[in-house]
Amino acid sequence: MDRSRPSPSRVEIDDPRVTSLLGEMTLTEKIGQLHQINAGEAHLHDHLAWALREGRVGSVINEVEVDIVNEMQRMAVEESRLGVPLLIGRDVIHGFKTVMPIPLAQAASWDPPLVQDAARIAAREAAASGVNWTFSPMLDVSRDPRWGRIAESFGEDPTLAGALGAAMVRGYQGDSLANPVSLAACAKHFAGYGAVEGGRDYAATNVPENELRNVYLPPFQAAVEAGVATLMTSFSDIDGVPATANRWLLRTVLRDEWGSDAMVVSDWDSVRQLAIHGLAANDRESAYQAITAGVDMEMHGEAYVGHLEALIGQGVVALELIDQAVARILALKYSLHLFDRPYTDVGSFPPPGAADARAVAKRAALESAVLVKNASDVLPLNAQALDRLAVIGPLADAAHDQLGTWIFDGDPGMSITPLQALRELVGDHVDIAYEPALATSRDRDMQRIETAATLARQADAVVVCLGEEAILSGEAHCRADIDLPGAQTALVRGLAEEGRPVIGVIMAGRPLTLSGVVEHLDAVLIAWHGGAMAGPAIAELLFGHAAPSGKLPASFPRMVGQVPIYHSHKRTGKPPSPETIAHIDDIDPRAPQLSLGMTSFHLDAGYTPLFPFGYGLTYTTFTYHDLRLEQARVRLGEDVVAHVELENTGSREGVEVVQWYVRDLVGSVTRPVRELKAFERVHLAAGERRSITCRLTAQDLAFAGRDGRRRAEAGEFHLWVGGDSQAPVRADFWLEDD
Ligand code: GLC
Repeated sequence: MDRSRPSPSRVEIDDPRVTSLLGEMTLTEKIGQLHQINAGEAHLHDHLAWALREGRVGSVINEVEVDIVNEMQRMAVEESRLGVPLLIGRDVIHGFKTVMPIPLAQAASWDPPLVQDAARIAAREAAASGVNWTFSPMLDVSRDPRWGRIAESFGEDPTLAGALGAAMVRGYQGDSLANPVSLAACAKHFAGYGAVEGGRDYAATNVPENELRNVYLPPFQAAVEAGVATLMTSFSDIDGVPATANRWLLRTVLRDEWGSDAMVVSDWDSVRQLAIHGLAANDRESAYQAITAGVDMEMHGEAYVGHLEALIGQGVVALELIDQAVARILALKYSLHLFDRPYTDVGSFPPPGAADARAVAKRAALESAVLVKNASDVLPLNAQALDRLAVIGPLADAAHDQLGTWIFDGDPGMSITPLQALRELVGDHVDIAYEPALATSRDRDMQRIETAATLARQADAVVVCLGEEAILSGEAHCRADIDLPGAQTALVRGLAEEGRPVIGVIMAGRPLTLSGVVEHLDAVLIAWHGGAMAGPAIAELLFGHAAPSGKLPASFPRMVGQVPIYHSHKRTGKPPSPETIAHIDDIDPRAPQLSLGMTSFHLDAGYTPLFPFGYGLTYTTFTYHDLRLEQARVRLGEDVVAHVELENTGSREGVEVVQWYVRDLVGSVTRPVRELKAFERVHLAAGERRSITCRLTAQDLAFAGRDGRRRAEAGEFHLWVGGDSQAPVRADFWLEDD
């Protein structure tokens, strides 16, 4: 598969077929195209059947029974006056039947081709059900692990999110939307949703334009440049104007600045929610606000069909706006070849859960896991040296929970759990003793912790699978306390007291505050909600059949009170340092007011995360030598080229994610202390050494200034390279203007 080319040739909105069909439509039929109806449990309900025959619906959401989908298409195509086929939308977020790791986990792979392959498998399985539009990728930069939807995101960094989001778009849309396997992708939630106040879903996002342009918009621009067919507006209120009514976002940025003709769909009923926000007084005003702002299709709401005809008739809304929206929808339907091929031939697709699908799911789970602690190289475990392994914890055998959130069509029966996989991998010569100890991740009943401790005492090593149930993650599932829920911390302490090596496997949908747990564990593997094949991946990583290569896509705070905490923060006028901070336990009660370090930190937590962005260990070691710039002084607009020698200084092969960070020391607006600019996965054999090159263009070094315009500015820069965002290896360069 050509992974570099963006999604292809698409039918333009001024295509003669679009224009001709538009010209035949009545106003009612045009407004019908802007309307999406939910099927769901009711499937082909009476209202939907009526709307199909009347040509009053452009899309159906949440129908995945292929025979029913074909019947809906048949009614639209053969029983309505103009026979316009339907967009069939579904949340295919990280797999369809074969569930891949959650997007936050996939982000930990730092592997765009892998993410693209996983999306292609998801598209194939969904298309076999008649789905032709997925509401994915979710591109919300998120720096708040209290927010349940961080699970759906690619984490805290715009560069990583943009690269992986574009890869996911290419995976869904393939080389052509006309391919029966392809789905129209949907970059969501446009924009700034990840900044919800307090990590509470749907809360206001008070993000100033400069922060929007430099942090939250770039991943969406990357998706647009990759050819994403649609975007979805966010529920959230951006600086007082909800995204679904935000003309600046939907017209000035998306259409005028980015030149995109992608179709824009609201989020679920987010048009009518404008009245709940208090931006509109009623559905009529909500419809006016959304259509004039640039929302083409209303997802599951009645504002458009209830009020647009009157708004047009009264001259309040120009018919031209309706025609433009309908043209984008028709162009997409032509691009998907729906007029030529409205029906799905399920027999032309491989069955869901095929071997290649499971292989991609396993590879994704292997590459997503992040080893954040490995004291005394306790991992990998040596099966030959073990008589008994205790497998403990509420997530050791939780087939449903390891799939994570947003798995409408996932099949838990396809899951292989860590317990099953460990038995399969080493069970023929290692005695596996299993005790969940807690019924669920939230269980506070500590009665069986003693039983678990006894098993630990009788074993040579302990694997404890901890984390969150899937339902504690995802939309509207936010947590103010992000410690391990229930009595899991007590369980870890109970196991640690038995003096055996205890390996913690954390299966969750967010970064958790693990400070009180990590100290009691000899090794910690962040396995996230790793999908159907999480079990085999975890087992093979623990026993060294594969080596961890994941790197954190989001910082892990020491305490929730540090949130938001992320690598690319601003320097402030009083940056902290180890010398300028005090710890709450060391403070003299009579310490003078100004003596505790007048810099930006917390007395009880300092200023660094427990584990930083980009961090991850493996079973070997890498060192970086001889970082050098081809030129230390570069003319503004020319490329900056750097080289570094990477060496595998350990005894095993391994993969390193080489990360390049930049700091622009002085700008027309303040700039972050570090920004990820490039990365690549590099495999080296033990002892192997390779030269790695990084080429930074002016575009890479550009940022939005006070005027909103992106450009690189002359001045001094620091460039770091390494295996995480605290990498110390640095070289400096200057950009010079004439
Ligand atoms: C939800 C989500 C959105 C999803 C849509 C359809 O509320 O915000 O991400 O695609 O509704 O399910």
